[in-house]
Amino acid sequence: MSTPVFSVNGLWKVFGPKADRVPADPELTGLPPAELRARTGCTAAVRDVSFDVRKGEVFVVMGLSGSGKSTLVRCLTRLIEPTAGSISIDGEDVRAMDRTRLRELRRHRAAMVFQHFGLLPHRTVLDNVAYGLEIQGVAKSERRERARKVVAKVGLEGMEKRRPAQLSGGQRQRVGLARALAVDPEVLLFDEPFSALDPLIRRDMQDEVTRLHREEGRTMVFITHDLSEALKLGDRIALMRDGSVVQLGTPEEIVNSPADDYVREFVRDVPREQVVTVRTAMRPGDCGGPEHPGALPPDAVVADAIRTVAHGGKPACVVDNGRCLGVVDHERLLAVVAGTEPSKEAA
Ligand SMILES: Nc1ncnc2c1ncn2[C@@H]1O[C@H](COP(=O)(O)OP(=O)(O)OP(=O)(O)O)[C@@H](O)[C@H]1O
Ligand SMILES: [Mg+2]
Repeated sequence: MSTPVFSVNGLWKVFGPKADRVPADPELTGLPPAELRARTGCTAAVRDVSFDVRKGEVFVVMGLSGSGKSTLVRCLTRLIEPTAGSISIDGEDVRAMDRTRLRELRRHRAAMVFQHFGLLPHRTVLDNVAYGLEIQGVAKSERRERARKVVAKVGLEGMEKRRPAQLSGGQRQRVGLARALAVDPEVLLFDEPFSALDPLIRRDMQDEVTRLHREEGRTMVFITHDLSEALKLGDRIALMRDGSVVQLGTPEEIVNSPADDYVREFVRDVPREQVVTVRTAMRPGDCGGPEHPGALPPDAVVADAIRTVAHGGKPACVVDNGRCLGVVDHERLLAVVAGTEPSKEAA
């Protein structure tokens, strides 16, 4: 496995008076949030969180309102100062960075896309997109050229001269996205960028993110409180509750093996066929020939396999590098939909 982009260990963010003493004091860290607040006036927004963000993945931070998502992600570039713990980017200690290095981190390496676009109202779309390059000191002609390319990439061609007020919410969000992309950061940090958008535009933007990720392999950290958005976009999901990460795993792991009752309740209504992969659903076995009917990749989800099997009228092979790993048939696929497959009952 390649070195992680971000590596976070034992991270705490405590708001309130004498916050520093909280992470160091086991008597305080053991208290439930309300009691900690009553005793000390402090809120532990992030509690002893550790994770890596791998190169090229979409790492989703999910949780209800107030669970600590924004605080956690802002700590990554020290827009919020952590109280304790360590953070590194490409092996470099973020907490040891001086102001110059931090500015460079935020401008070049880890760009943030916010929910409330933060666009400059008197500037055109093109100049808004070029803004990040401007503060980097890129010359005007070059930044305009680069901005023009990114504007096209996010589907805003022809709107370069408009001002933010002349755009829809979804278009404004694309401008925000383009502005972050224009500086070509190693990692994009999204703080609920789409939650103010109506459902259809939101789906468009999710597809846009998926496409950008697929085409460019860019590393992304994506905050959402929306489970279906998390499952759709995330390679891995960190599920937060009261400042702690209660489970970190792939969408399939979280839906198939919830870590506790809280997670189980959270994912109860997820359509399992959209998350469970055929690698999990298949029965071992070989189709016995070179043909591999159906030929599904192991990470295809059951919903896709149902289409294949229904269409082909016979079981489909799960094939990896030309090798048959197993077979999915009606029975296996229906068991996933019904939540009665053997792997689940054994768990
Ligand atoms: N500056 C602050 N001072 C005191 N408490 C804060 C501060 N910022 C956040 N908090 C508290 O920390 C906790 C986590 O807040 P945070 O904004 O990280 O949650 P969130 O998961 O992003 O929520 P949302 O989905 O509503 O954006 C909350 O209890 C919040 O009230
Ligand atoms: Mg937030």
